[in-house]
Order: sequence, then structure tokens, then C-alpha cells
Amino acid sequence: MSETLIVFDTTLRDGEQSPGASMTRDEKVRIAKALERMRVNVIEAGFPIASPGDFEAVQAVAGHVKDSTVCGLARALDKDIDRAADALKEAASARIHTFIATSPIHMEKKLRMTPDQVVAQAVRAVKRARQYTDDVEFSPEDAGRSDIDFLCRVIEAVIDAGAGTVNIPDTVGYSLPERFGAIVGKLMEKVPNSDKAVFSVHCHNDLGLAVANSLSAVLNGARQVECTVNGLGERAGNAALEEIAMAVRTRQDAFPVDVALDTTQIVHCSRLVSNITGFPVQPNKAIVGANAFAHESGIHQDGVLKSRETYEIMRAEDVGWSANRMVLGKHSGRNAFRARLSELDVVFSSEEELNAAFARFKDLADKKHEIYDEDLQALVTETNLRSQHERFKLMSMKVCSETGETPTAALTLSMDGQETSATCPGSGPVDAAFRAIESIVKSGCDLQLYSVNNITSGTDAQGEVTVRLEKGGRIVNGQGADTDIVIASAKAYIHGLNKMLASTSRTHPQV
Ligand code: KIV
Ligand code: ZN
Repeated sequence: MSETLIVFDTTLRDGEQSPGASMTRDEKVRIAKALERMRVNVIEAGFPIASPGDFEAVQAVAGHVKDSTVCGLARALDKDIDRAADALKEAASARIHTFIATSPIHMEKKLRMTPDQVVAQAVRAVKRARQYTDDVEFSPEDAGRSDIDFLCRVIEAVIDAGAGTVNIPDTVGYSLPERFGAIVGKLMEKVPNSDKAVFSVHCHNDLGLAVANSLSAVLNGARQVECTVNGLGERAGNAALEEIAMAVRTRQDAFPVDVALDTTQIVHCSRLVSNITGFPVQPNKAIVGANAFAHESGIHQDGVLKSRETYEIMRAEDVGWSANRMVLGKHSGRNAFRARLSELDVVFSSEEELNAAFARFKDLADKKHEIYDEDLQALVTETNLRSQHERFKLMSMKVCSETGETPTAALTLSMDGQETSATCPGSGPVDAAFRAIESIVKSGCDLQLYSVNNITSGTDAQGEVTVRLEKGGRIVNGQGADTDIVIASAKAYIHGLNKMLASTSRTHPQV
């Protein structure tokens, strides 16, 4: 039996720092429950001092998750640590993760502190966190650009102060695999009390090397990897959980460790995160992309038919790809609907919420005969989205699209309960619909991204549309799903506008 590689998921914290990926408390709980079901060891649920919303989300995740450790992030400051501890009170197993920067550039320019002051503050923070829990993690932020002797000094001091996990972040994604692995190995060798802590890594993907750097560190002794579902995260993202997990699992000949994950939950988690955050998964993304197991070339297809190992190194079903399974249909009742959703960890907080979702389900079942889990997930996200902050509502829409004619969209929106109609031409039906919405709302938002994905296969599948809107530096993602992709597009745009108006500003101190 090989040793376990601890999987520390930070989708809900670092992942949420992607522009536009913010999640509500209930969405975070849904993702956390899916991660728990996948048997992720540690779930970093947020940064409690950052905002009241972050605090409540960490508190809610701590209250719902029982089998994974729940972690809260805190700068090396008393107030941050106290707030994190408060948010984690209900957790069955709680970890406080505290950090302070150790690179010359961060210490001089950002913190304006001397190295001695940084060591003292790190030690103080770890000791304070230990007053609340035995499970304390420390990160020297920007370790990838820190002086190795100084890192040794800080790490020795925080282990002495009680840190059980020492995480080495490549905060700006600057490291190269061989060197990064060697740094981790050297730290473990040079720090005299390194055997008293688990060494962890946290790699960003600015050079596309986050997974390679993490795996190199594992080969050099790291026993925890910090990662996110779909590689979501600040800028170019974090190391992708699914890639780390499957690399380690598939190459047991090379790794002295294995993950304890139920990998068959990977695709479900990937879809859930994509669906909730509005960050689509590129089709050629390893493990979770729609084409990850699709063989196009005749030679490959022939080989796979004769013996799948000719061209497949993993089994699609081992990561949760299975033929779409019809779960519900037009004649399914409310109880079957509720039961299937509860199997997907979706629990309605009121009968009204259940009724609203069930009504949407019936509408969908009229248009689409077979309803899959993916449809249900999208439907629940939609119902949640609509019930949260709906200042604008699409009441009706008609689009005309004809060869040789300019497409037009005529629609009616309800704005704070008052209905207004507009008709606009556009270069295509979606463009016309967006113009008509803008002519009513006059938001001045800039459309930065528009993408359509089919939720399941077939031409009767629901299209899931994501839009990214920007205004004055603020970015939101809007989503909409419908069997008609022009309607899905209008819903996504309106959802984005509602979010833009409703969202309160969050603060992300110094991360
Ligand atoms: O990238 C980083 O350095 C972080 C730390 C807070 C671990 O996210
Ligand atoms: Zn990070």
C-alpha cells in the first residue's frame, strides 16, 4: 500500500478569486458536498475576514461537511485568525491556514517589513491559530521567488511554533518543474525539524506548469498538493485537481504515493463547478474536456475497438464519464424529482423553492423527453440564480432569422416589476437579443466573453450559455440554460446584469 497524497482543494477560495467566479454560500455548500463525496482530504472553503459573505460561506461549509477537513484562510494577523476560527467553529475537523510573504520583493514593496519582523509575525500567527485548533498550516507566500536560506529559517520557526503543514506556494507561477521539485527536496533536507510537518505545494499556472511543478514536488517529498477543480483560480489558475489525481493514479510505477479520492466523481465535480461559476471547460482539457476520451482518427478508433489499451491510458468510467443516463422524464412526479436531487446533494430550503424548481423541470420535460443529472444540475443552478437577485426578468421574446434578412429580436423585460418592450436588429439573433436588452437596461456593460455548451448530447439538448460582463473594472459571469440557445443567451445576459447590480464588493486583502 502506498502512502496517501493529501488532496487539498481550494476551488472555493483560490478558485473563487478568478474574475467573475464568485459563488454564493449555497453554491459553495453544493460544491463542498460534491468534494466531500469525492473524498477530498481538505476543503479550503474561503477567506473569512475578506467579507461577511466569505465568513458565512466558510461557516456553512463547516456546518455541512463531516468527512473532509474544512479550512479557512487567514493572513498572519490576529484579527484574521480569530475570524477564521470563529467561522470554523462547527467543523468536525478544522484547519486554519495562515500565510505571510517571504520573497524580497513582497517583504520590501508590499509588506514593508524586515525579514526578522516577518519571521516574528509568522510565529505569532501560528501560535495564535494553535490556540484554536491542532491543525495549522503555514504558507510563505511567493516562496517560488524567496531566498532558500530565509525560507529554511521561517519554516523551522513555524514548525517549532506548531504548524503541522508547511505549504510552499509558487504564487506567481514562476517556477520550473525540475527546480521547484529540487527546492522542496532541499527544504525538507535542510530544515532540521522538517520531519514534524507535512510538506505541501500550491502552484499557479501562469506558465502552464502548475501541474508539472506540483508533481515534481511530490517526487521530491511533498505529501500534500493544493489544487482546484478544472484548474480554476487567480489569473491563469491553479494546478488542476483532476490532472494531479489521475497522473498519480495512472503512473503508480513512478509515484510512491496515491490519492484516496473516489475518482469516479471527477466529471460530476467538474461540471458542477463549471455550471456554478460559469467557467466553461475547454473540449480538449485533460480528463474532463468533452474530447478527453474521444478518438477521431480511424486508426485510433480501430485500435481502441480491438483493445482499448492501444490508445487509452485511463478508463473513461474511472473518472466518471459514462453514457448519459436518463434519470427522469415527463411523467416523473415531485417525489422522484426531490429524491434524485437529494442524491445529488441538492436540498431545498423551502417548499416554494422545490415547487419553483419542479415547475421548471416540467417545462423542460415538455421540450426534452429525457432528463439527465446534468440537466437537473443546470436547472437547480438556474432556479437558485433566478430566486436570488432578479431585478430584471425576461417576460417574452421573439426572434426572426431568415436568409438574406437582418435578424431582429423583440422582447419584453420586467424591470423592478415594470414591463418594457424593445425591438432591435443585430448581426445575428443573439446579437439582436443582447442589443434589445441593452436598449432597455442601458447598463453600459462590456461583453467580454460569450460561450455556448451543450449540457448533454443530441440536438434536443439544453444549451448552456455563459456571458462575462465588465463594468468599471468589476466582472461578473451570467449563465442561462434552455433548449433554445437564443433564449438561453438572453437569460445569461439578464442574469449577468442582475448579478452586476446585486453584487456587493468583496475585499481580498493582500492575496
Ligand atoms: O498563491 C498563494 O500564494 C496563495 C497563498 C495564500 C497560499 O494562494
Ligand atoms: Zn494561490
